[in-house]
Amino acid sequence: MSEISGISRVEVALEGSRSYPILIGDGLLGQPGLLDGFVGPKALVVTNAAVAGLLLPKLQGSLGATRIDVVHIGDGEQFKTLGTYAEVIDQLVAHGHNRDTTIVALGGGVVGDVAGFAAATYQRGVDLVQVPTTLLAQVDSAVGGKTAVNHPGGKNLVGAFHQPRAVVADVAVLRTLPRREFAAGLAEVVKYGVIADAEFFAWLEANAAALLSQETSALRHAVCRACEIKAEVVAADERETGRRAILNFGHTFGHALEAATGYERFLHGEAVAIGMTMAMALSVHLGRAELGDAARVDALLTALGLPTQAADMQAAPLRQAMGMDKKVREGQLRFIVCDGLGACSVTADVAEGAVEQAIGAGVVR
Ligand code: NAD
Ligand code: GLY
Repeated sequence: MSEISGISRVEVALEGSRSYPILIGDGLLGQPGLLDGFVGPKALVVTNAAVAGLLLPKLQGSLGATRIDVVHIGDGEQFKTLGTYAEVIDQLVAHGHNRDTTIVALGGGVVGDVAGFAAATYQRGVDLVQVPTTLLAQVDSAVGGKTAVNHPGGKNLVGAFHQPRAVVADVAVLRTLPRREFAAGLAEVVKYGVIADAEFFAWLEANAAALLSQETSALRHAVCRACEIKAEVVAADERETGRRAILNFGHTFGHALEAATGYERFLHGEAVAIGMTMAMALSVHLGRAELGDAARVDALLTALGLPTQAADMQAAPLRQAMGMDKKVREGQLRFIVCDGLGACSVTADVAEGAVEQAIGAGVVR
């Protein structure tokens, strides 16, 4: 990471000329010239009405002389559909956009995923700039090039890898985020500590209160370190042929929780928090992590206002939902296990009983 004029810069180092920066700071949006060199002469901004009301004028202040058109999509996961994607494409066509256009995603992960998929496919691919406005999007979804929409048959079933030209993570925009959404983003931040950096995990423990009260320097450090870790993992395995799967720590259980509750009860980060508790139980059961590690993860998630249990749920629907997980390879579920805080690995060699036991850590057995 480097820092120039108050802007921290984390590089996602990819082959060829596709490397790109994640620009992190407090009060970046609105700065004139911020996007010079990243956005061409024409842009289509994809956003939703709520985010546009808060932040579109600021974004415009950073887009200079760029000619922009704006498309508002619906707010919420239920709008991450092929229909919404088609609306974005319709607007690109209607306004005569071509391969010189840059699509700018201004919003959370839903906006970023839809806009990213449109950028991946419009005229076989146009430039994309991600301006994530939720914590989850800043530390996870806007970085790494995964784009997708949902299908009635499953989440993120239709998508593409399409890396942005730049990501702008302005922590100032997080101040209007509902508390629950903010906490959900913190779950992904905790994930990075567990899988890759014990020192960062300890820093999160020491700074939980500062993070919850959104102290700027704490928030900035958390976003920077999370992005550094994600950038390293993505650079090493852009298309998830192996190591990138570690970013799914807690997600096999978490996705099952979301699916089994119809995507209505939990925010993604909340399901991941419970999923990480189960993944820690599995890691302890397999002798890879200590009980003390699991207790620290549970305590940190709790301190950050996240759930670690869904005590009223039964194990059976979760197990059933896990059978449908994308990570099933040749009939075997793969799990990311914690090998002590700050380290992890992928394993397919997990007995049914161990999975049942891990699920039992978070729900009624
Ligand atoms: P979201 O996009 O639905 O945003 C959450 C809510 O916050 C929305 O109502 C939004 O309008 C509002 N909001 C956004 N910014 C705001 C701001 N600054 N102030 C006030 N309100 C604001 O949810 P999310 O958690 O950002 O993203 C979830 C999506 O991300 C899911 O679809 C998930 O599949 C996807 N995701 C993708 C990746 C990836 O690698 N592409 C990784 C993780 C998650
Ligand atoms: N969110 C997981 C990944 O980007 O690979």
